[in-house]
Amino acid sequence: MKILGIETSCDETGVAIVEDGRMILSNIIASSDVLHNQTGGVIPEIAAREQVRYIIPVLKEALYKSHTTLSEIEAIAVTVGPGLIGSLLVGVETAKTFAVVSHIPIIPVNHIFAHIYANFLNVDREPKLPAIALVVSGGHTELFYMDSNHQLTWIGGTLDDAAGEAFDKTARLMELGGYPGGPAIAAAAAKFKIENSKLKIMLPRPMMNSKDLNFSFSGLKAAVIREVNKLKTANQFNNGTIHQLAYEIQESITDVLVKKTFEALNQHQVKSILLGGGVAANKRLTEKMQQKIKSLKSDIGLHIPPPKLCTDSAAYIASYAYFHNQPKPWKNIQAQPDLEVEV
Ligand code: KG4
Ligand code: ZN
Repeated sequence: MKILGIETSCDETGVAIVEDGRMILSNIIASSDVLHNQTGGVIPEIAAREQVRYIIPVLKEALYKSHTTLSEIEAIAVTVGPGLIGSLLVGVETAKTFAVVSHIPIIPVNHIFAHIYANFLNVDREPKLPAIALVVSGGHTELFYMDSNHQLTWIGGTLDDAAGEAFDKTARLMELGGYPGGPAIAAAAAKFKIENSKLKIMLPRPMMNSKDLNFSFSGLKAAVIREVNKLKTANQFNNGTIHQLAYEIQESITDVLVKKTFEALNQHQVKSILLGGGVAANKRLTEKMQQKIKSLKSDIGLHIPPPKLCTDSAAYIASYAYFHNQPKPWKNIQAQPDLEVEV
């Protein structure tokens, strides 16, 4: 079954063709991040305007690259939320138009759930279920229990800032420049050599030892503001201290993510851990997850998508739609910027 996926929830314009939820035939992404790089964050109006320009060429390219005609598409999957209203409308209205004109069923998709399905794409070893899934993106930090029938139950999430947001906001505070901030923090952290430098800056690990499955990252941001101000006042805000701060920010966020994921594992009988979302592209997070599994001598399967499938694309929108094949009449499909994941 060939599904055409459309993703326009933030600044990306993505169209992908995926066969049977697992094989990517094409996955085209146009991004306006160069424009947002200059402003240090996504300007919704600019993102939506660019998406209006990109959507048809991206759709045409996705069909062309997959050697597929529209008549071979059996369903259109589209992100309906959560996301920016102007951006979502571009994808949703395009999907509806094509669905009506070509008589193709349309499947509305929740972007956050869909991130998990990057783990089912182009893999030799499909995740064994049930599983714990951690979605860590720019706007979300959510833990789910996924049963053997792919039913997703929300079991915890952030009370304030998301993990990706913590990376983005602290990167901006440290004047690392550009958007998104996660890769910039990771790059700066890699320059801090822990073997021959003493780590003097210590940051909190918010809620790390609370037994629940919730997160909070706003306190981390406040602590970074204090450190940056202190360093600036003492005239010590330089590359050395920036690298040290970046290292400690990455350690703090990844420590909390690992701790809570394994807490979820304690509370549920599962066979795998699935990661998804832009922050799952963080190498240090992968390292720590692997170390933790090794230290527990656990045979739990750890699944982390390749970086290109962690960040936003339409491939896993199509994959999710295959596994949750619930078409709706086009008249009932609407952009839902505040679509929730809690049930
Ligand atoms: O899933 P995603 O592409 O978009 C949303 O749905 O939000 O996630 C974007 C987030 C941004 O906050 C970005 O800073 C973060 O993912 N990110 C990373 C890395 N690559 C992207 N965070 C840490 N390390 C990375 N390597
Ligand atoms: Zn996303």
